[in-house]
Amino acid sequence: MTSTSPVYVVNESASGESTVAAGPDSSNHSKRVEIEFRGVSKAFAQKGQKDAPAVVKDLTFSIRKGEVVSLIGPSGCGKSTLLNMGSGLYSATTGTVMVAGQEVKGPVKRVAFMLQKDLLMPWRTIQKNVEVGMEIARVPKAERQAVAQEMLHKCHLAGFEKHYPFQLSGGMRQRAALARTLAMKPDVLFLDEPFSALDAQTKMVLQQDLANTLYNEQKTALFITHDLAEAVALSDRILVMSSRPGTIIEEITVDLPHRNNPLERRKLAGTGPLIGRLMELLHVGDEDAMH
Ligand SMILES: Nc1ncnc2c1ncn2[C@@H]1O[C@H](COP(=O)(O)OP(=O)(O)O)[C@@H](O)[C@H]1O
Ligand SMILES: [Mg+2]
Repeated sequence: MTSTSPVYVVNESASGESTVAAGPDSSNHSKRVEIEFRGVSKAFAQKGQKDAPAVVKDLTFSIRKGEVVSLIGPSGCGKSTLLNMGSGLYSATTGTVMVAGQEVKGPVKRVAFMLQKDLLMPWRTIQKNVEVGMEIARVPKAERQAVAQEMLHKCHLAGFEKHYPFQLSGGMRQRAALARTLAMKPDVLFLDEPFSALDAQTKMVLQQDLANTLYNEQKTALFITHDLAEAVALSDRILVMSSRPGTIIEEITVDLPHRNNPLERRKLAGTGPLIGRLMELLHVGDEDAMH
């Protein structure tokens, strides 16, 4: 048994760690661990430099299939670095990163990434932008057109297939980016502040769509945000990181209903205290944190 990390014990049961520790090979599909960091650290060594300081250290956590976990922490604490290691863009300096049952040593199939910038190609129509990953993966034309249409419909962009990115609002462009991400039919999504450039109301509408899709399709997601209310509204659990060198200082289970309906969850009485707890952990409002 390799995965009896305290993370499971805290979140699943106060006592029975052996019953809740499910390794990547577990036959219990719904409980399979999909993302796992074991003792991961990362240092960026400059040329000829030995002993570069760690940006993140001792990262140990796991995420099960179908879970949505948010990652919060002060700017520069290494959240994006962590995500980049999960998706294989950066290698870990020490420790092991496992995604979808395999050790991450480069880009992993069935994993998709979504960023704050929509990164749509301005010379391609929305439909063609959504098809791009499938084109690279050599999906036949008829199939990729059909999948793109389906995803655009799901993301409320039906009718905008032939538009170009500049013709769309910021929220619609981010929807198109979401459609492009989903078109690859990923099992695992890494989302790096995907909504942080949007206005508050557009953001809530997109959160609603994302939460619905993640829930209905049982996707596993690791979601970086600096919006504490967003973290509570969307997640099953929240990992809180310290400032650099970033490490996980607290893990909070969001024991509230409506994970598929963040608008409803926002209204619950239990939401405010959880946001308050996150503020405390991040020292929001403390004098020395006001930089
Ligand atoms: N490719 C890189 N080379 C050197 N340093 C990097 C690289 N990527 C990130 N860093 C450093 O790692 C630290 C954490 O960055 P990042 O992961 O982007 O933080 P966050 O997303 O939490 O704001 C920063 O100090 C940044 O300069
Ligand atoms: Mg970042």
